[in-house]
Amino acid sequence: MLNVGIDIGGTKIAGGVVAADGRILERVRVATPTDTGALARAVAEMVELLAARHEVHGVGVAAAGFIDRSRSVMLHAPNIDWQNEPLRAQFEALIGRPVTLENDANAAGWGEFRFGAGRGTTDMVMVTLGTGVGGAVITDGQLVIGANGSAAELGHVRFVRGGRPCGCGQSGCLEQYASGRALQRELADIAASDDIGTRLAAHRGADGIVHGPHLALLLAEGDAGALEAVRRVATALGEACGAFQAVLDPELYVIGGGVADLGEVLLEPTRIAYETALPGFGDRPTARFVTATLGNDAGLVGVADLAGLRSV
Ligand code: BGC
Ligand code: NA
Ligand code: ZN
Repeated sequence: MLNVGIDIGGTKIAGGVVAADGRILERVRVATPTDTGALARAVAEMVELLAARHEVHGVGVAAAGFIDRSRSVMLHAPNIDWQNEPLRAQFEALIGRPVTLENDANAAGWGEFRFGAGRGTTDMVMVTLGTGVGGAVITDGQLVIGANGSAAELGHVRFVRGGRPCGCGQSGCLEQYASGRALQRELADIAASDDIGTRLAAHRGADGIVHGPHLALLLAEGDAGALEAVRRVATALGEACGAFQAVLDPELYVIGGGVADLGEVLLEPTRIAYETALPGFGDRPTARFVTATLGNDAGLVGVADLAGLRSV
C-alpha cells in the first residue's frame, strides 16, 4: 500500500510516495509559496502528480503549528501567518480526497519511531531543531496529541523566566534558546564580542549567517567560538530534556532538524546538560540521545505512514 506524504517547510515543500516499509519511491520538491492559497495549490499539484504515477491510498500533509484535536484546523503557528486556518478542508477541496493533517514534528517523530532511530522503542521523544523547535512524544507506542490536539509542543515550554519573546506570544520558550535561529544568534554574539579567539566573523556570509559547511569547518578546526555557540544551544536542549524526563520518562531522545546535522558535537554537551538537570540522577536509568536517521525525510515518511494508518 502506497501513501503520499507532504512536508511543508519554511523554504521548501517536500513530497514523496512512501511504501509500507517506509521506503520513498518517488519524490518532488518545490519552494514554499508565502500566500496560503498558493501554498494549498502547490500541495495539491504535488499530490496530483504523484497520484497519477502510483496507486496511492492515503495522503498526509505535515505542517508546523498547533493543530486541533480533529486534525483539521491549524489553530496557531508561531512562525507562519496561520490563525484558525482550516487547512485540511482547503487541501481536501483542491485534492478531492481525504487528507491527514499532522504537526510537522509529530510526523517526523512518528517516522523515526516506525522506520528510523526509534525503531523497537515504546517511549521516545523527538526534538527537531530548525527554524523553530518542534517536539513529538510517543508513549507506549502511541503518538500523544492531547485533549485539544496540541500536545508535544516542546519548543514552547518556558525555559527562561522573563526570557526572550517568542512567536507564540509567550517569552522564554525553549525555541528561543535551542533552534537554528538561536544558534545563529549565539554565533553572531560570539563573533561580535571576539574575546575568546575565534575565526567566526570571517566565516559569516553576506546574510550574516554562518552556513552549515562553514560551521562544520570551524568545528573541525576546534574553533572556540563555534564550539561555545553549539555548547550553549546543546545546554538549553539538554536541560530541557532533563525536565521532560520528569514528565515523560522516555528511553530515547531523537534529535532532528538542521541543527542535528552537527551530530556528536551537539549530542555530547547535550547529554552532559541533561544529566546535570535530571531529577534523581545517579539513582535512575538515563535516556539515550541519538540524531535522527531519516534526516529531512522523517516528516514526509511519518505523515505518509499516519495517512495510511488513519485511512484503513
Ligand atoms: C511550532 C511547532 C513546530 C516546530 C517545528 C514550532 O515553532 O510551534 O508546531 O513543530 O516549530 O517546525
Ligand atoms: Na509536535
Ligand atoms: Zn513560544
